[in-house]
Amino acid sequence: MSLDVVNNLVILAKLAITQSNNIDALEKVRIKFLGKKGYLNQQIKNIYHTPSELRPKLGAAINKAKKDIYKTFIEQKNILNSKRIKNTLIRDMLDVTLPGRLSDIGTHHPITGTIKRMKLFFKSLGFSVIYGPEIEDDYFNFDALNIPAYHPSRDEHDTFWFDEKRLLRTHTSGVQIRAMTDKNPPIRIISFGRVYRKDYDHNHTPMFHQMEGLMIDSNIDLSHLKKILYDFLYNFFGKKIDLRFRPSYFPFTEPSAEIDVMEQKTGNWLELLGCGMVHPKILHHVGINTEKFSGFAFGIGIERLTMLLYNISDMRVFFKNDLQFLEQFK
Ligand code: PHE
Repeated sequence: MSLDVVNNLVILAKLAITQSNNIDALEKVRIKFLGKKGYLNQQIKNIYHTPSELRPKLGAAINKAKKDIYKTFIEQKNILNSKRIKNTLIRDMLDVTLPGRLSDIGTHHPITGTIKRMKLFFKSLGFSVIYGPEIEDDYFNFDALNIPAYHPSRDEHDTFWFDEKRLLRTHTSGVQIRAMTDKNPPIRIISFGRVYRKDYDHNHTPMFHQMEGLMIDSNIDLSHLKKILYDFLYNFFGKKIDLRFRPSYFPFTEPSAEIDVMEQKTGNWLELLGCGMVHPKILHHVGINTEKFSGFAFGIGIERLTMLLYNISDMRVFFKNDLQFLEQFK
């Protein structure tokens, strides 16, 4: 009988509704059951085939069924809607706890790092930084440093010449001459820069870096030189390393010395820097009164210093642009 049909339709509709897992499917179910030509409205049309005394009851039952089904429909629609919202929220969720995407900031080249530390130390002693040209003329690189054309030590420099007069500086000592020519004592300067020599093996590259230091004042002697350089090296290596101060020869200093450092692994002495009291001949030449003033100069190989600090055995790695090597200094 029709009432059973209506009840069955309610059961079927509710089942279909609760099984719809998206809004489109749910809407199709709604049209199938509650639409104008849906199953329930078809039952209303069927009312005319039922005996008239049953019609009100059947009509009421159909209306109640429609309401019932509609209620379930709305419930399911709400469930699906909130599921959809939740899914989009999950999809678009911003996880504020994730680490940010850091842009890769580079690092200073180890040579630059060493230069910075050297600057810091010598600035604190009142030295100021000046720079000289990498393309020098033979006057500043040699003659003014008491290395005339016939002097044998010119040959030791393995110079890159451009022409008769111009060259790539073989050391930063030319900056001493420039400083003494430009300034009156007292003078305290340091200078950093690239220098060039025709040399290439694990301890030599055709371009390398030096730091030059010059101090001219009254009553300056060798003990000031030794003290300042020892303090610098102890500070740089962060401990009392084994050092050797030994006599040497440079045409522009008298007396001259070199400082060697003991390489821990091998026990070998490695030459680290050259230094000495500025030769009176040079002071005269730049017009400094040697009765009143004296001073010292030194030149340090920056690669050598950096190699000792980090235990690097091949100098060429500094100039290979190998990121794996360079990133270790972050
Ligand atoms: N210019 C010298 C060199 O390159 C080092 C040095 C500098 C020595 C200053 C004495 C004084 O070997």
